This record gives sequence, C-alpha cells and structure tokens, in this order.
Amino acid sequence: MQINMNDNINEKSNIREIVHDLKLPITSIMGFTELLKKGSYDEKSKDEFFDIITSESQRLLKLIDEILKHPEINEEENQNKCNITIQVNKYAKAMSPLASKKNIDISLNINSNNIYVSIPENKISRILTNIIENAIKYNKERGKIFIDVTENEDRVNIIIKDTGIGIAQHELDKIFLKNYRSEACKELNISGSGLGLSIAKKFAEDYGGTIKVTSKLGLGTEFIVSFPKMKMDEK
Ligand SMILES: Nc1ncnc2c1ncn2[C@@H]1O[C@H](COP(=O)(O)OP(=O)(O)O)[C@@H](O)[C@H]1O
Ligand SMILES: [Mg+2]
Repeated sequence: MQINMNDNINEKSNIREIVHDLKLPITSIMGFTELLKKGSYDEKSKDEFFDIITSESQRLLKLIDEILKHPEINEEENQNKCNITIQVNKYAKAMSPLASKKNIDISLNINSNNIYVSIPENKISRILTNIIENAIKYNKERGKIFIDVTENEDRVNIIIKDTGIGIAQHELDKIFLKNYRSEACKELNISGSGLGLSIAKKFAEDYGGTIKVTSKLGLGTEFIVSFPKMKMDEK
C-alpha cells in the first residue's frame, strides 16, 4: 500500500498548505484503526495496517515539528523580541543630527552584543527616542550625552546621561506623570507636551522594564532603562 504525500515542507511556503497536509495521515490512521476494530482482515493485512498506522503517526509528528519551526508560526513571537544593542546603536545614530544642531556630542559605549529583550521594536524605539530626545532638548549648547549598555546575569541596563539643565530633587518623581514639565524647563521656555516620559514608562513597564532617574539641578541627568534579558531558551 502506498500513500502519496509531499513530505518536503521546505517546498511549501504557505502555512495553510502545510496544515492541510496534516489531514492525510490522520485520515489514514483513522481509516486503518476502524478496519482493525471491525476485525475484517486477515493476519497478513493486520501487520500491514499496524505498519501504516506507525509510519503515518511518525509522519504526523514530523509535520508538526516542521510547523512549529515555520516562520509564519513564529512571527508573532519574533515581533516581541529585539536585539537591544542593535536598537540602542540605531536610535543613538538616528538622533545624532538633532544633537549636532546644538553641537552636542553623543558617545556610545556598548560592550556586549546580542542581548535580547522581549519587547516589540516600535515600543523600544519610542522609549529610546523619547529619552535621547530629552537629553538633547534639555542639554546645553556643546553639552555631552553618554549612552552605555551594561548587563548583569538577568538584566540589561541602558544608561543615558546628559550634561544638561538637570531636574530638582522634589520633581524627580513627577516627571513621569502625564503633562508634567519641570520648573527649570518652563523658566527656560523649552517647549514640550510633558507626555514623552509617561509613555516611555508605561511601555517599559508593560514589558517588565523600569526607568529610573537621578539628577543634579544645573549639572545633568541620568536615566537608567532596565529590562529582563531573554534567556537562551526563549530566544
Ligand atoms: N534629560 C532631561 N533633563 C532635564 N529635564 C528633563 C530631562 N528629561 C525630562 N525632563 C523633564 O521632564 C519633563 C517631562 O519630559 P517628557 O515627558 O519627555 O515631556 P516633554 O519633553 O514634552 O516636556 C520635561 O518637561 C522636563 O522638565
Ligand atoms: Mg520629551
């Protein structure tokens, strides 16, 4: 008995087509089980039926394994994964023309490669651009920005430090509130909506992250964005 089936998953790009292939071995397993149940067979066919059921079950397992590896199935998972060092590099570079307008130098220090965090790229992009944009906006002419990425066993920290106007101690908690703008920035007439950090904090916390700030009024501010690292088996 011959069952024809194209086993070569790689030739099939569409997940629908692959899932459709699952029907054939199941139909055949059910058919032969039914025959065995009815007892309408001779001894020779019985062995043959068992062989078919075994080989079709193995084929089914193989198909399922292939499906689990298929990019379409993994797409959603991949959307929630980003290489943090690549992202930090990308957004630091993307913001450098804005920094150049104020002659601000951005120095980037990334020692590790391939640290993965479970967050979609569009969210990490909003977090990084908001904080780097602030480090430029609330900086002085010819100021400096230092961006460091460090890691420990289970977390990655992105440290964004500037030499700008700073934030008074009593305002440090408030800057994450919606629409809050510091006294110093209002005095200097630096415009803004006060929304960037509240959005950044919400996005970070949605993915197990934290954003902390320390500052010295008139000297500068340091933000630490921290995320749990993805473990090897989650990658
Ligand atoms: N790097 C920084 N240096 C000094 N002040 C900052 C810095 N980042 C944020 N702030 C203060 O926090 C407030 C909130 O920031 P944000 O939510 O990004 O809103 P916006 O920049 O639109 O005002 C700012 O108005 C500013 O007073
Ligand atoms: Mg802002």
